[in-house]
Amino acid sequence: MEDASYEEKASEVFDKLTPQDIATKRTLVATDKLYRPKLHLCPPFGLLNDPNGLAYFNDYYYIFYQWHPNATKHGMKHWGLYKTKDFINYKDVGLFLAPHHLYDNFGIYSGGACVIGEELHLFYTGNHRDPLQNYARLPHQWHLVVDKHDHIVLREELIDFNASYTEHQRDPYPFFREGKLHLLLGAQSLEKVGKLLLYTLSDRASHVEGCQEVLLPKELDEAFMLECPTLMCDGETNILILSPQGLAAKDKYSYNNIYSVVYMRSGSMDFSHSAVQSIDSGFDFYAPQIFHDGKRSLMIGWLGQADTIYPHEVEYGWSQVLTMPRELSYKQGRLCALPIAELQMLRYAPRAWYSGIDCSTRQLDFALQVEQTFKIKLGNEKYFIEIGARAGDYYIDRSQMQLAVNEQYGSVRYGKQHSTDARELRIIVDNSCMEVFFGAGACVMSLRFFIDNLAFAVGEGIVGGEVYALRPITLEAVRE
Ligand code: FRU
Repeated sequence: MEDASYEEKASEVFDKLTPQDIATKRTLVATDKLYRPKLHLCPPFGLLNDPNGLAYFNDYYYIFYQWHPNATKHGMKHWGLYKTKDFINYKDVGLFLAPHHLYDNFGIYSGGACVIGEELHLFYTGNHRDPLQNYARLPHQWHLVVDKHDHIVLREELIDFNASYTEHQRDPYPFFREGKLHLLLGAQSLEKVGKLLLYTLSDRASHVEGCQEVLLPKELDEAFMLECPTLMCDGETNILILSPQGLAAKDKYSYNNIYSVVYMRSGSMDFSHSAVQSIDSGFDFYAPQIFHDGKRSLMIGWLGQADTIYPHEVEYGWSQVLTMPRELSYKQGRLCALPIAELQMLRYAPRAWYSGIDCSTRQLDFALQVEQTFKIKLGNEKYFIEIGARAGDYYIDRSQMQLAVNEQYGSVRYGKQHSTDARELRIIVDNSCMEVFFGAGACVMSLRFFIDNLAFAVGEGIVGGEVYALRPITLEAVRE
């Protein structure tokens, strides 16, 4: 994600868009009938990447996202916002945060949220480049307080550039531990190794009380940067999720995408002896964030990859998608994920599975019972996605798509099947998005796929189950 010149950047601020520009962009996006998803959140126009500031606040789920409104490429990032009470009807708030200060003059980068009392506290990285130092990148971490009316009542610089690390310091993620507020922050050492910083903050995040490096497994020393830290607290244990950059492919299961996402588990904040595991073994998944709504740990990721232009969407003036929200649980040594239960409210009447079932509605939820070895092909005679399990592996093969994506990184992905895994398969299909949950969520694979004619699904080793057509989520534009 290379930065453009300052002049080019300055012209990419949302304020430069006229109401007419916005109307034109929205009209163009609306003409994309084939591949723009109807159940997955994507940008109103322009490009989206990481989910940011996920929180349950004031009876709403807040889903902020990295947004470049002015173009379908990475550039001057803003935060956009979707809000929902039920994950079915959404308010499309559009712009929430734009660059506003010298210390975020090259974009509002990723960050997290936490609720303190009646307030939502947001943290983000101001991607500051100093015009007096040849535009050297010197990121600053910002803190914001939002009231119940979504008004920003405080916006202050919290952490200055830390000269013990390189220009790569970003993605603050707040969490409470033993009653204290902390921030995780991705960073890069002067030796160009990815590091994770743990800041301790005062109550209400008015200042920093301390900072230390989190101990991580040796395997991660290969990464040149650790992006988007996020944490799930499961009773006494912590599950830390990171998006490392620079890990070389290890075997057929690990690190085969441009960038991968890993998790590790520990009883403390020392992860040095934890196993490093994959959280999504698919093709298109990055920078997820976790939050808790009082009942469940939920996760939303970016259903995409850096440095990837997905075919088709750019010509319609939009780019990239978020995953559906997933509910997380830790079972038998694995972090499991399933689509949130609310999704079932979108189901039309069930159809019993049969090989050859019609898929032309393009929004589908498969809930199937499968044999240990099985195979499903979804598409048409010529173009299809193959999903299956054989010889102890789950796999997805997207080599037979109509429009290819990132073929140089391979067209098959694998996940390990355990013989004790539940023989349950969920597949969510949504125009160009697919999320596959093997073994009742013990292994998940996410991908974008591009096939015009989704005619049918044929299968072997399917014991039974239902296939539901799904109705779209609703999006109500609130303001621009
Ligand atoms: C991850 C990331 C973050 C950064 C943001 C910029 O995809 O590179 O590290 O804050 O995207 O959009």
